[in-house]
Amino acid sequence: MKLPAGPPFTLRAQLLTPLGGGGHQFESDARITVDRQGRLASVERWPGEPLAGMEPAASSEPALDIRPLTVMPGMVDLHVHLPQTPSAGLGYGLDLLTWLGRYVFPREQAFDVATARSLAPQVFRAMARAGTTTAVVYGAIWAPSLDAAFEAAERHGIRAVIGKVMMDELTYDDGLPRERILETSLRQSAELCEKWDGRDAGRLRYAFTPRFALSCSAEMLRESAALAQSFGAYWQTPISEDKAEVAQVRQRFPEARDYLDVYDRAGALGERTILAHAIHLSDGEIARLIESGSRIAHCPASNLFLASGVMPLARYLAEGAVVGLGSDVAGGPDLSMLGQARLGAYAQNALRAAGGGSAELVDALGWLRLATLGGADALGLASVLGSVEVGKEADLIAVDGSLAVPPGGSEVDDPLELAGRLIFRSHPEMVVGAWVRGRLLPA
Ligand code: GUN
Repeated sequence: MKLPAGPPFTLRAQLLTPLGGGGHQFESDARITVDRQGRLASVERWPGEPLAGMEPAASSEPALDIRPLTVMPGMVDLHVHLPQTPSAGLGYGLDLLTWLGRYVFPREQAFDVATARSLAPQVFRAMARAGTTTAVVYGAIWAPSLDAAFEAAERHGIRAVIGKVMMDELTYDDGLPRERILETSLRQSAELCEKWDGRDAGRLRYAFTPRFALSCSAEMLRESAALAQSFGAYWQTPISEDKAEVAQVRQRFPEARDYLDVYDRAGALGERTILAHAIHLSDGEIARLIESGSRIAHCPASNLFLASGVMPLARYLAEGAVVGLGSDVAGGPDLSMLGQARLGAYAQNALRAAGGGSAELVDALGWLRLATLGGADALGLASVLGSVEVGKEADLIAVDGSLAVPPGGSEVDDPLELAGRLIFRSHPEMVVGAWVRGRLLPA
């Protein structure tokens, strides 16, 4: 099926979207109009009746009928490592710290400009094929490879937050004397931020990206957080992923109350901070993380692949945490956010079956919300993307739900059942188009 390559356009399709005000909207026959600027101008029940709380159509554009495809918001991958993608699926059975040494650091060390130029366009296309329209990306430590990653994202059209990994301890940088690593990493990160943050009217953003507490001095954490604040950029890092890691952090930072306190003392917590994994947090850490407004990137596939643990998602949500989903490739083997939702849902069931987690279960629509609006909210962009609502930028996907129908089954027209089918029977070819600001992404 030929899909519109750029705005303006109007689609006639099935619609499934979370709503910013809560709940969701499902229409088996909807009219979705994207204006010249790539914004959603109208979202209506076919042939033109405005949905509850939405404006009437501004355009009489002829509609392209793509039924039975379902239009949904593009998905947000809140945590993914670009240089690691070739290692996806490798190293099962290893714990985090062994796996980092064996599969990750050598791969990142070799991530030069030529490798980045060749890999980044392939990865962004693979993301589009999986339905990811926004990616929050860790690079390697080499600044020129970050320029290559940004250039590839700029050309491809995906929305991306990207950062150079910062490490002045436990690092693979053997080219510089130790005393110069800190200064160089801070300076290069600031230069990259200055150059790329806000490019293309905010489609590209920068994240200061310390690798994790074990790879950073207190000064690196503090100075990177101060830079992020002064630029108004993001600050991202993992926290409390693996029990051995947590124990080592306790030894490395004896003055800190706990793992979160290492970042708190650095002045790094806040609404532009995205903390990945967050599995083994104490009650006090959970309360402080939420109070600080910091965001959580939940990476269920990676947490299972590396046997890191099961994050108590339902509890975090009940306590008011802002959570999105991350593939954490290559910790997670797969770029698909529907795949994250599926494994996350299974993990939460296992947690309940084991007697942990009494908070309300996240249902299939809740998982779709986490993969879309949850990620947008985590980035402070819930008013811009994450749902198919008038006024937002048209970051959309079109999904072929027929590929999720089992032998002998039939298409479902209940939104909760549809969400369940898309998540639990997702298919690699299911996403047939992905747009950012109404521009079709190469896939
Ligand atoms: N902690 C520090 N670095 C990494 C990484 O690359 N992947 C994962 N999963 N955890 C980390």
